[in-house]
Amino acid sequence: MDDLDKLESDLRGEIDAAQDLRALDDARIAALGKKGRVSLMMRELGQMDPEQRKQAGQALNALRQRLEDAVTARRQALEEAHLNERLATERADVSLPVRPRAQGGVHPVSQVMEEIAVIFSEMGFVVREGPDIEDDFHNFTALNFPPDHPARETHDTFFLEETDKDGNPLVLRTHTSPVQVRTMLNQKPPIRIIAQGRTYRCDSDQTHTPMFHQTEGLVIDKATNMGHLKGCLMEFISAYFERDVEVRFRPHHFPFTEPSAEMDVRYERAGDEIRIGQGEDWMEIVGCGMVHPNVIANCGLDPKEYQGFAFGFGVDRLAMLKYGMPDLRDFFAADSRWLKHYNFPALIQPNLATGLS
Ligand code: PHE
Repeated sequence: MDDLDKLESDLRGEIDAAQDLRALDDARIAALGKKGRVSLMMRELGQMDPEQRKQAGQALNALRQRLEDAVTARRQALEEAHLNERLATERADVSLPVRPRAQGGVHPVSQVMEEIAVIFSEMGFVVREGPDIEDDFHNFTALNFPPDHPARETHDTFFLEETDKDGNPLVLRTHTSPVQVRTMLNQKPPIRIIAQGRTYRCDSDQTHTPMFHQTEGLVIDKATNMGHLKGCLMEFISAYFERDVEVRFRPHHFPFTEPSAEMDVRYERAGDEIRIGQGEDWMEIVGCGMVHPNVIANCGLDPKEYQGFAFGFGVDRLAMLKYGMPDLRDFFAADSRWLKHYNFPALIQPNLATGLS
């Protein structure tokens, strides 16, 4: 038994001296592993007479248990020390602001895109994206622009030097409608998407910049009709302006929709201010229509089975109308005074429950 006491104090000493988990494991194996010292002693039990064996066996088992407990205790102590060390060295004082005052904010275009996405996602739309550099097929041909048709020129297209595989110059997309094509080519209906992003046309004045932003909507299903289109846009526009907005639909023409329409909103001008939703004037803000059967077929779907609607509008223009900026060119002039005046707080997420803006 003296032997056992000595053995226990030796092994305990090794366990308690382990400075890391690997050393602890070595100590554990040396004591309790298959060829560990306790295990070797257990093997000797076989040679003892029954009475002796009973006593020694009990003593060894108890020893084994105490050593296992010692290993567990040491492991916990090491892990805790390791955690405390990390807590001490990796400490960050989160109670201190990064700067004396939060700097920077959200650009009105980003804010408005977020507001638009929130409204449409509530209606079950998902957000899709497409590239800014497009080929002729996605920007024009698949969308039923006839070849060499002047409609291509009404878009004031920026052509690039690089060409596609047919030798047609690549373009900076003139609208977000190519994302309709990409979506129909890649996803089986039902489809309910919006696509937002940069678009480009060679144009610049108070309400036009060569780069601007659009939102595109596309719904494709088996029984979608013009009534769904109108309801969807009416719901959207009142949600966006956060008030009842009266609208009217006028017939129009786009190559990719048939019938096509433009949606106007009621507004009035009071001095420099534009008030949406009241007054005697009408302002065009959305292009829309039922997706042309040729477009559906160009995208590999059967127009006898599927139909749907699409719409597109300028994000920057909607931002100007809601938040009262008089000149679109200022949006992209990177003038810090303008940005300070018109930006939105970075940490407030637009949502329909507590308000978009
Ligand atoms: N792509 C059109 C434009 O930029 C807008 C639009 C989209 C019209 C979808 C109808 C349907 O003018």
